[in-house]
This record gives sequence, C-alpha cells and structure tokens, in this order.
Amino acid sequence: MNAPNTEQQALIRYLEGRWSEEQVRQRLSREGRSGEPVFDGRSLQFHPENWSLMRFALRWGLRVTGLYERGTRNALRLRVRRHHLRLPGLPAPLAGVRLLHMSDLHLDMHPDFPGLLRKRVQPLNYDVCLITGDFRYSTTGSYLPAIDALKHVLEVVDVPVYAVLGNHDPLAIVPALERIGVRVLLNEAVLWEERGQPLALAGVDDPHYFGCHDLERARDGVPEGVPLLLLSHSPELYREAAEAGYLAYFCGHTHGGQISLPGGIPVLTNARCPRSYCQGSWSYGGMQGYTTVGAGSSVLDVRFNCQPEVVLHILSAAQRGDVNTSVFP
Ligand SMILES: [Fe+2]
Repeated sequence: MNAPNTEQQALIRYLEGRWSEEQVRQRLSREGRSGEPVFDGRSLQFHPENWSLMRFALRWGLRVTGLYERGTRNALRLRVRRHHLRLPGLPAPLAGVRLLHMSDLHLDMHPDFPGLLRKRVQPLNYDVCLITGDFRYSTTGSYLPAIDALKHVLEVVDVPVYAVLGNHDPLAIVPALERIGVRVLLNEAVLWEERGQPLALAGVDDPHYFGCHDLERARDGVPEGVPLLLLSHSPELYREAAEAGYLAYFCGHTHGGQISLPGGIPVLTNARCPRSYCQGSWSYGGMQGYTTVGAGSSVLDVRFNCQPEVVLHILSAAQRGDVNTSVFP
C-alpha cells in the first residue's frame, strides 16, 4: 500500500490505541483488492456478492418467471424469533438477560426496510443490542445511506449497542457508527454488569473476507471466570473460538442461504464451515452458537424459503440434557 491519503490518515488517528497503523493499512489494502473479486485466490473463496453479472441474471430470471415480486415481498416479511439460549455454568442471576441480535441489515437494500426494522424492534424488551455486521447493501460505494438508516432505527433502542464489521463493511465506517452510538468491537472486548454479575463481550473483525480477525487479542484483559460471549460476522471461527474458551458465539453472514429450496435448504451458504453451523442454534465443544439468517438481503432484494429475522436471545443456565430452543410469537 502506498502512503496513506488524508482520509486514511484520519482513520489511523481515530483508531490509535486500538489498532496499530500497520493493522489499519493491512485492512485497507484488503479492501482495495482489484474492486472486490468474485474469486479470492488468497482464501480460495467464491464471493457471489461481488458478481454483478450473476445479480443481473438472477433478477432477469426471476422477472421472466414472475417470481421477483414475491421474492421482494418475502424479503420484507421480517419476524422476531425468541431463542432460549442455555449456557453451561452461567451464574444464576444472569438467567433472563435478554440480548437483541440483529445481523446483515444491508440497510440501504430497500427504502421500506429501515422503517420496518424499527417497527419490529420498538416493542421489544432487552438489555443489550448486538449487531453482527453487514450494514451496507453493496460491497462498494458510500456507507452513509446505511448510517442514516441505522440512526433512524436506533432512535427506538435505549440500551448499549455493540457491533462487529462484516464483509460488506469498510473500516472507514467505524467512526460514523460510533458517532451514532454503536460501539464497534475491533478484536476488542467490553466488560459490563447485569444484575450484579460481570459479563464480557468480545468482537472480531470480519473473518470471511478481510481476515483481520484475532480471537486471542479480542479477549485480552477479560478476567478468568467471567462468562465470555463472542460476536463474529460469520460462523467460520467456531472451532478456534471454542478452543479459546468462549461460552457463546453470535453471528450471521450466511443469510441462511437467502434463496433456499422448499424446507429451508440453502442453495449457497457462502461460508467455509459445515452447513450445520450456517443457520439457527448449534454447539461445538462446550460453546453454544447461533447463526441468524439475518434481517436484510444482499446480491438481490429477494428471499425464498428463508424468512428474515431479528433474534431475542434469552439466557439461562444449562442443565444436563438441555437443548436450545427457539419460538416465534
Ligand atoms: Fe450479509
């Protein structure tokens, strides 16, 4: 990467003490790779979100078959899922803590979406709000429309909001997010108390595309014995996170396939992990995880057999033989 320009210098200054200049420059250089490739030779990953020809062909195919309108209606059928998350060893006073989990908002996807999201969130009761990345619809262009839309949504949220970045989010979005009250966890952790008990929440940078995540650094300074939750854009770190001692893992990215076969079977999940980690609740080792199918849509503003959601996780202590369950009101 060449010498940083004025905007990049400002970002380096803004993140001083959180990320080194070298880390910022590494992330920015990955953002600038040949206009976001469809195939990334470094990770051997296919990125359909960057393939404008596929977007055009899909839209055309759906229009000529008369399915496009139905797909866009489906994409706006946003529901609230209540998920009982049973965590082994959770201190009893933390039972009942409620975490609102939103992901893959892609807020500038459709003009009606931010208002709809705000309407779904407004009546809910929760202690903390978690957002697991992908604020912007496209992987390029301005992030400001997404920030304006999120500001509108967050007017009805009066609890702390923590987030991580996704593969659609440039590092430069961080100051704008933090100005509207969203604390972005860039391989960092926060500690807070609920009902007199400490809880820790760590967050890593997007592991799917940018690869600047650091699970070990993210938990730096968290005292032993404090229940440790993780935000990551994608589920792809499930094994490393369990080995690093995280108790729960919240993520999105896969959109649950977004366009799925009848029965909710995804055509593509766009993640380097088994499909069992790509939607809903799962566990690995002693760690419990949840991959939300997301609230918004990308590539195209359509969904089939995969209804968008925001999730209200309700914590409880696990008993032997417990299974995590979710319900729709
Ligand atoms: Fe997404």
